[in-house]
Amino acid sequence: MNYKEGMLREDALVGKVIVITGGGSGLGKAMTKYFLELGAKVAITSRNLEKLKGTAEELEKETGGKVLPVQCDVRHYDQVEAMLKACLDEYGQVDGLLNNAAGNFISPTERLSANAFDTIIDIVLKGSKNCTLAFGKHWIDTKQETSTILNIVTTYAWTGSAYVVPSATAKAGVLAMTRSLAVEWAKYGIRSNAIAPGPFPTKGAWDRLLPGELKDKFDLAKKVPLKRVGDHQELANLAAYLMSDFSAYINGEVVTIDGGEWLEGAGQFNILKHIPEEMWDQLEAMIRAKKSN
Ligand code: HXC
Ligand code: NAP
Repeated sequence: MNYKEGMLREDALVGKVIVITGGGSGLGKAMTKYFLELGAKVAITSRNLEKLKGTAEELEKETGGKVLPVQCDVRHYDQVEAMLKACLDEYGQVDGLLNNAAGNFISPTERLSANAFDTIIDIVLKGSKNCTLAFGKHWIDTKQETSTILNIVTTYAWTGSAYVVPSATAKAGVLAMTRSLAVEWAKYGIRSNAIAPGPFPTKGAWDRLLPGELKDKFDLAKKVPLKRVGDHQELANLAAYLMSDFSAYINGEVVTIDGGEWLEGAGQFNILKHIPEEMWDQLEAMIRAKKSN
């Protein structure tokens, strides 16, 4: 057994219909694949219909499951409503929403145009809000007994991060929405949770966050106490658990899955890891010698 293997029992998501925004590539695709393996029916949605169709065909072949590709730019509420309708027309119900679609790129903030900043806020915050609002209204109107919203944020949603300020600002908003609705919509049987991933290599993220030589210059694995990046399956395991009824009592939680990366940067004395083991005897003796001062 290891983290590259599926974790849940094979029928963990049988009977569930799950919509994954940005499900045609990267982490969205990995989570979609595992949901299918666990018996869910899924819809994947993004701007690029050809890409979605290709992913749908590939995953249906690999898993024997059912994938509905639906074109939808999450920035536009009318498109989100149409996407929800397409899913309901196909499946008759929707049980889970995975807000995974995102936009991001590194830049000194002062170089950004107002439109560049807006673009990221619109995809990440407004897009997650649009889907959450449309799906939430539907679940409340139809008195669906239980449903689940899972939002993909980042660890810098609470710490902030230089050079990705629009993304940090937007993800912080998504985190606040997650915790707020966990309380407000619990009475409707709607759970809201989030996952904060550390570095999980994908083409979409790496092309925009570590372009060219930056990939080699800033090896993100070195920043992680566990000295490795994440594997897509271990994120999919967590997402499937949070989508499943096994997590029925988890609501308003944000689960960090980053090998300890953000805490490494946060702890004031974490830098002491650079002290060689053999030096600790000497340091201890120096500290003890100061006892009487
Ligand atoms: C400065 C930039 C820019 C850049 C675009 N813009 N790229 N400004 N530096 N590198 C500006 C444009 O000039 C324009 O402003 C505005 O941003 C919108 O750009 P468009 O190309 O018109 O937008 P659009 O076609 O909607 O594309 C959105 C995008 C693109 C975000 C720019 O990269 C995209 O489609 N991304 C989707 C996938 C993605 O980003 N995946 C990574 C997620 S990773 P003006 O003023 O000129 O009109 C992630 C992980 C975080 O979130 C944590 C990792 C550890
Ligand atoms: P990715 O492959 O680029 O995924 C982003 C997805 O969002 C794409 O499929 C894209 O599809 C879709 N998208 C972008 N704009 C959209 C829009 N306006 N409407 C609908 N869909 C849109 O990158 P990823 O690394 O897998 O990222 C997935 C999620 O994980 C994101 O929320 C990201 O912030 C989060 N995350 C990733 C990492 C990491 O290390 N990879 C770390 C922390 C958090 P189209 O281009 O076809 O629209």
